[in-house]
Amino acid sequence: MTRRPLVAGNWKMNGLRAGLAELEAICAGYSGALKAKADFLICPPSTLVAEAAAKTAGKGVMIGGQDCHAKASGAHTGDVSAEMLKDAGARFVIVGHSERRADHAETDAIVRAKADAAWRAGLTAIVCVGERKEQREGGKALAAVREQLAGSIPEGASPDRLVVAYEPVWAIGTGLTPTPGDVAEMHASIRAGLGKRFGAKGEEMRILYGGSVKPQNARDLIIQPDVDGALIGGASLKAKDFLGIAAAYT
Ligand code: 13P
Repeated sequence: MTRRPLVAGNWKMNGLRAGLAELEAICAGYSGALKAKADFLICPPSTLVAEAAAKTAGKGVMIGGQDCHAKASGAHTGDVSAEMLKDAGARFVIVGHSERRADHAETDAIVRAKADAAWRAGLTAIVCVGERKEQREGGKALAAVREQLAGSIPEGASPDRLVVAYEPVWAIGTGLTPTPGDVAEMHASIRAGLGKRFGAKGEEMRILYGGSVKPQNARDLIIQPDVDGALIGGASLKAKDFLGIAAAYT
C-alpha cells in the first residue's frame, strides 16, 4: 500500500498578509522530485485563507483552515463554518487540535461534529489526537489515543475525507519528540484502530506525525512505517524550514 505523503503546515495564530511571501516561497520550492512525491498543504489563520488560496492557485500547494464550527451558518459570533472555508478556497480543515481542545474545552464529541461538518462542506478533515505528558509517563499513551480516535472520528470516514494527525501534546512547541520507535508504535496502533473500524479503507488513510518536527529530525520521524507525512507548527512559518522538512521525501 503506497500512501502519498502529506506535508502540512499549521500557522496557528500567526501571519499577516505580508507573511504570504513565505507561502510564495513555499510554492516556488514545490517542484521536481518534491512535487512528484508529496502533497503540500498550508493552513493559515482564517483571515488569510482566501488570499492564500488565490496566491497558490494552479501551483499545487493546497490551503486549509485550522478549525470550523459544526453548523453551516447562524448566530455564532466569531466562528467560521466549514462552508465558509470551502468558499474561501480551502480544501482541508484541521479539527480537534490539542490547543483547541485545551483553550476551548473541545470534547471528542465536539471534534466529531466538526469533522462531520467538514465532510458536509466537501472538505477533508484532519482530526488531531495525542496524549498528554502524564499519560505518556503513566504508560497510558496508546489507550488515551485509542479512546480519542474512537470518539473523534465520525462514521463514514474514507481516505479522501479523513487524515489523522498524531500530535503528542507534550511535543508541541517544546522541541521534544517521542523516539522514532514510540512514533512507529503509536502509528501502528492508530492504523490498527482505523482498520478495525473502516476495514480496507483504513489502510489508505494518511496518518501524520506532528510535534516539534524540524529539518534536523524530520527524516528520522517520517520514515517510520505508517507515518504518512507531518503536521508542522513553528517550522512551517519559514519556507526554508518547511521545504527542509519536506526534503526528507526526496
Ligand atoms: P510545532 O511544530 O510548533 O511543535 O507544532 C506542532 C503542531 O501543533 C502542529 O499542528
